[in-house]
Amino acid sequence: MWTLAVSRADVSDSVLVEADTPAAGDGEAVLRVERVGLTTNNATYATLGDALRYWQFFPAPEAGQGVVPVWGFATVESSAVAGVEVGTRVYGYLPSASHLVVRPVSVDGRGFRDGSEHRADLPGVYNAYAAVTPDPMWSPDTEDLQTLYRPLFTTAFVLADQLVDSGFDGATTVVLSSASSRTSHNTAFLLRGAGARVVGLTSAGNLGYTAGLDTYDEVLPYGSESAVSGPAVHLDVAGNPPVTRALRDALGDGLVKEWIIGMASQPAAAGTPPLPDGRTALFFAPDRMRQRIEEWGRDGFETRLADAWRGFLPVAPDRITTEAGAEAFRQAWTALLAGSPSPGLGRTFTF
Ligand SMILES: NC(=O)c1ccc[n+]([C@@H]2O[C@H](COP(=O)([O-])OP(=O)(O)OC[C@H]3O[C@@H](n4cnc5c(N)ncnc54)[C@H](OP(=O)(O)O)[C@@H]3O)[C@@H](O)[C@H]2O)c1
Repeated sequence: MWTLAVSRADVSDSVLVEADTPAAGDGEAVLRVERVGLTTNNATYATLGDALRYWQFFPAPEAGQGVVPVWGFATVESSAVAGVEVGTRVYGYLPSASHLVVRPVSVDGRGFRDGSEHRADLPGVYNAYAAVTPDPMWSPDTEDLQTLYRPLFTTAFVLADQLVDSGFDGATTVVLSSASSRTSHNTAFLLRGAGARVVGLTSAGNLGYTAGLDTYDEVLPYGSESAVSGPAVHLDVAGNPPVTRALRDALGDGLVKEWIIGMASQPAAAGTPPLPDGRTALFFAPDRMRQRIEEWGRDGFETRLADAWRGFLPVAPDRITTEAGAEAFRQAWTALLAGSPSPGLGRTFTF
């Protein structure tokens, strides 16, 4: 088996490590990782690897190294657990590696959870492996889109839900930075017609792409923050301190809420301490998911999410390239960290 290990001190420093392919011991199953996607979200897992414990999911070969989590599909290659059959294909949170050893618990016809001790106190949504056949979001022809979008669409779904549920905190405008990202696009898509004007802010080079999505009421380049009128909620989707500061200056008290969604490259919102009065908050999708699953039930949550997902699939804008093998994946990881990926270019990998 191989594992892509990155240095936690410099996540662009990566190495492919070979080891013997594991076999399932007592209480274990071995998953063969087969198809995964790579987006800025994965870079954020590395940026926040220590702060949000993303390094804890998949132990690295050596101290000081981390294994970057990815989302995608795997097949049970060996199993010593009743109900977890060899050949079962699952969707879930996977390591940048060819194999993953799990300790399946809560096994039922819909999949299982990894009950490994090192994952026990981590957010439950990351520990679930859904068997594809009964999964309402799965279809065989959309696996690439699922690897690219599903965690982001799910985040967007609960984020849009939270905004609507809170009446936009009285705002009439929602302004999203990193508007070209999938997470922003999905959120804007889900907020259409929900009662607030949706404005996207993006880099000059991504303006045409983002406007072409036809999802935002207005798309503006960074530097135009003064054109946004309040009362407004700002969704800081990939961590953009200059935009955050410009919107604070432009909107003043008209900035009613500031949600920090992700940090693609900053270890913290450098230079942008939280606003007073609780107006700045970190949005952590698993928390909102847990709340809605408690309120709606697991079926109720999954049905609503899958309905929304089916509405999005026909307009997913990606041109997808699928590359094969560990070295292609390693090079893509390096490229992802080196600069903004082309929006609309989805990179998926088969192993
Ligand atoms: N809180 C949560 O639970 C949660 C869940 C899912 C995702 N997220 C966050 O959402 C963000 C977007 O992820 P995604 O996968 O949707 O992105 P993506 O589709 O890969 O979008 C890439 C876009 O992000 C922007 N960007 C800003 N800084 C970047 C950087 N250092 N490297 C590359 N792109 C950068 C650029 O947009 P512009 O040109 O428009 O600026 C770029 O075009 C990530 O930070 C992720 O962590 C958070």
